[in-house]
Amino acid sequence: MKVCIIGASGKLGKYMVQHALDRGYKVVGVCREQSVGKLVEFEDRITIIPGATNDREVIKKAIAGCDGVLTVLVPWGVQQYSSGTAQAVLDYAPPGARLIFSCGWHITRDGKDVYPQTSKWAVRAAAWFGKLFRVVEIDDQVEACRRIFASDARWTVVRGSDLEEGESQGLPVWSRHVGDPILESNLTRRVDFALFMVAALENDELIHEAPAIVGCQTPSALAHQL
Ligand SMILES: NC(=O)c1ccc[n+]([C@@H]2O[C@H](COP(=O)([O-])OP(=O)(O)OC[C@H]3O[C@@H](n4cnc5c(N)ncnc54)[C@H](OP(=O)(O)O)[C@@H]3O)[C@@H](O)[C@H]2O)c1
Repeated sequence: MKVCIIGASGKLGKYMVQHALDRGYKVVGVCREQSVGKLVEFEDRITIIPGATNDREVIKKAIAGCDGVLTVLVPWGVQQYSSGTAQAVLDYAPPGARLIFSCGWHITRDGKDVYPQTSKWAVRAAAWFGKLFRVVEIDDQVEACRRIFASDARWTVVRGSDLEEGESQGLPVWSRHVGDPILESNLTRRVDFALFMVAALENDELIHEAPAIVGCQTPSALAHQL
């Protein structure tokens, strides 16, 4: 299997590169020019394509011939970074490719997620201050996901809880809606978020799903797992 990892030099991206290599996949990584050095540990094992992830020509070249595309959706700047990236992936992915996107619990697919009031305020404040200082555009990550949800492509949008570093605990568990009891612990190891993303490539049950994930060893997961 040949996979492209868009946003490969970030924390989540590097974990995904490692998991993909562990599975024997051929890996193409896209990252900003100034971040190529962050991938030095992989440089002789992957193909690196430098460029902005919302540059359509970069994405077109990187995902050509790929069976799977793993995209880190990030709302940096006020430049339609997330929606530009997602749209390029949707437009240029080979027919039938598995497309896996990352985001956070704040994204809702059907409006049935139930958030604590404090987290609603935190997201609203982050969106407002982010836009004011032109550093983050949360609304654009929402727009990116709206376009993905409307697409016929074979997509999965993985919604991460709060994250922590640490050794892998195994594949996270998931549920369709934030507010479901199994998700209550709201914590996932970043390495396992990446594991879920990569495992989704070969899990057709996740096609057209937006799983909200939580670490499999967290109290809520242990209490509610079947
Ligand atoms: N952080 C959390 O607590 C959290 C919680 C839930 C879900 N998530 C989701 O998890 C995913 C990864 O997030 P993360 O926080 O863990 O970060 P991350 O993996 O380190 O990824 C950040 C990405 O943003 C890029 N980036 C940084 N500054 C940028 C800029 N100014 N312009 C363009 N790109 C820039 C980085 O590229 P470079 O390597 O080039 O800098 C990297 O690819 C995201 O989809 C996020 O929505 C995060």
